Amino acid sequence: MTSAQQPALLHSAGSIPTEHRMRRLRRSDGLRRMVRETRLSPSDFIYPVFVTVGRDVREPIPSMPGQSRLSVDQLAQEAAELRSLDIPAILLFGLPESKDAEGSGAWIRDGIVQQATRALKDAQPDLIVVTDVCLCEYTDHGHCGVLADDGSVINDASVELLAQTALSQAEAGADVIAPSDMMDGRIGVIRQALDQGGFDDRTLLAYSAKFASAFYGPFRDAADSAPQFGDRRAYQMDPPNGREAMRAIERDLAEGADMVMVKPALAYLDLVREARQRFDVPLAAYNVSGEYAMLKAAAGNGWIDEERVVLETLTGIKRAGADLILTYHAKEASRWLARQGS
Ligand code: PBG
Repeated sequence: MTSAQQPALLHSAGSIPTEHRMRRLRRSDGLRRMVRETRLSPSDFIYPVFVTVGRDVREPIPSMPGQSRLSVDQLAQEAAELRSLDIPAILLFGLPESKDAEGSGAWIRDGIVQQATRALKDAQPDLIVVTDVCLCEYTDHGHCGVLADDGSVINDASVELLAQTALSQAEAGADVIAPSDMMDGRIGVIRQALDQGGFDDRTLLAYSAKFASAFYGPFRDAADSAPQFGDRRAYQMDPPNGREAMRAIERDLAEGADMVMVKPALAYLDLVREARQRFDVPLAAYNVSGEYAMLKAAAGNGWIDEERVVLETLTGIKRAGADLILTYHAKEASRWLARQGS
């Protein structure tokens, strides 16, 4: 460019105050790493897995590319992989042999999650086993509790079965029990059941602020847990309600939760941040199936740079204040992080 084409400067460059110069910290990779505020690591992740009956089963889930339903015999291999990637914990969801009105597959002693927990504890005792406590994968009607004649979910009778579910999971060796049902008072009743059963050492991770979200769609395909009629709005939270979410967290902590969760993550990052500021307990955020599926679909079409978008997303969840991230991206993200160095 010749000097004749250069636009006239409004200010001389030298007049930009030195204290306004922020690019000094961005000049090189080394500087950027040195001043990085948020560092994502495999130890932030909990990897969710769907466990199914049978042997040698690895059945891909179409709406969750890269995820499969696994039979119990496949879990030792999965556990070894998680350990080698430094991912500390696995979260178990079960697909039972058969479903009934009371969701008995959730709370029988040799239910699918109980079997999976035993197999994992045998194979990899140090891997933390987190078990989801809910009835919707086990009921023939697909709701998260037992039903009254009018089709509504009965709170207290459901809580009894959820407590039995938690107890049977603790007996099988679960380290962390994670109730996702959203019945009232379940944390207190489960805590009491665990204490009385000799499991006062087990951790309760409460899905405290769990919203009635459309982002659970792919999960319900994967777990075959869509309600057969109606929806979950009478027990899961109404998405516009942030203040109520803080009350739900406060209540669950008062009832004995050790850790709390906001779910889904991305449309609720304001609540992750607010919970981080208000409560001094470990805070989890669930990067749910629909959030995973969106990125996989865009990446599969070549529309986004998958590695960068996934790591940016998970970093955002951590920066908002989550200590733990439940994510189907855990394995691939850990591989990318290991390759990049921190
Ligand atoms: C069970 C449960 C659900 C999820 C976790 N536990 C589904 C639901 O509430 O309908 C969703 C997880 C995901 O979408 O990844 N109640």
